[in-house]
Amino acid sequence: MNACVRAVVREGLDEGFEVVGVRRAYAGLLDGDFQPLNARSVGGILRHGGTILQSARCDEFKTPEGVRRGLEHLQAEGIEALVVIGGDGSLRGAQDLHKLDYPVIGVPGTIDNDLVGTDEAIGVDTALNTALGAIDRLKDTASALGRAFVVEVMGRNCGYLALMAGIAGGAEVVLVPEVPIDGERVLDELGRTHRRGKPHFIAVVAEGATPNGRELAELIESSTERGNFEARLTILGHVQRGGSPTARDRLLASRLGSAAVKRIKEGIFGEMAGLVAGKIEYTAIADVISQRRQIDKEFYELSWVLAM
Ligand code: F6P
Repeated sequence: MNACVRAVVREGLDEGFEVVGVRRAYAGLLDGDFQPLNARSVGGILRHGGTILQSARCDEFKTPEGVRRGLEHLQAEGIEALVVIGGDGSLRGAQDLHKLDYPVIGVPGTIDNDLVGTDEAIGVDTALNTALGAIDRLKDTASALGRAFVVEVMGRNCGYLALMAGIAGGAEVVLVPEVPIDGERVLDELGRTHRRGKPHFIAVVAEGATPNGRELAELIESSTERGNFEARLTILGHVQRGGSPTARDRLLASRLGSAAVKRIKEGIFGEMAGLVAGKIEYTAIADVISQRRQIDKEFYELSWVLAM
């Protein structure tokens, strides 16, 4: 997020705009919490996780009155266009402003990677590498002690993070919300893993999967005779949402922030800037929020094949 804020500010200044930050996202907008930004205000923030502007979940902005009040604050402050960085909820708010004829441009920022219109959202690569680092470490203990580890990763209703972390981490099974699976199939795989002579069993489970991490760990514990692996559960949770961003994330955020400002300069609004096959593309926010990105079934199949 910081890399994107920095890019919006510096590209904006380069285009001759004045740039103002809205603190605490829509909650701050409703309080009129604005902060003028210059090139120095965003100095040294590239390597920091989170956002210097802070963020918030805001139920009030989901109401027509909330959106209208936000619009009034933008107009009173003389702000002529808004860049919204965020996931599905943030883009819905952006679309509500756009429907009132306010000029907005969206930038995808969510570790869930559940948005269409971009191959990857800001934060995904950093979260993925954090999950991968944890899986690598857990595998050391799993192999040393002959254990089954269930690693639950975030992603809301989307299995992208789990699937990619599972493949990259060499998991024995990956559970995603998009493909409900019978616990029995996982137990069969557990038994097979043991018979193959593997010293560990790693299950990467998306938080929205059925069964979820806790249920799967309990299932494995209750059937140790199948695999002879003792089970442990690790829920990674919010550690995936922080930390110094990867180079890939910083580059993506820098490019998308710059692309958002260029679209404002062109006078085209109501779109989200994304990166598709290495190129900047703009997609109507209305189209982004009316669809849900699907996981790639080929990757899912690959996760089973490579687990042998
Ligand atoms: O949408 C991003 C996300 O991190 C999800 O992966 C997760 O389910 C959720 O947000 C956590 O939300 P909160 O921080 O409000 O608990």
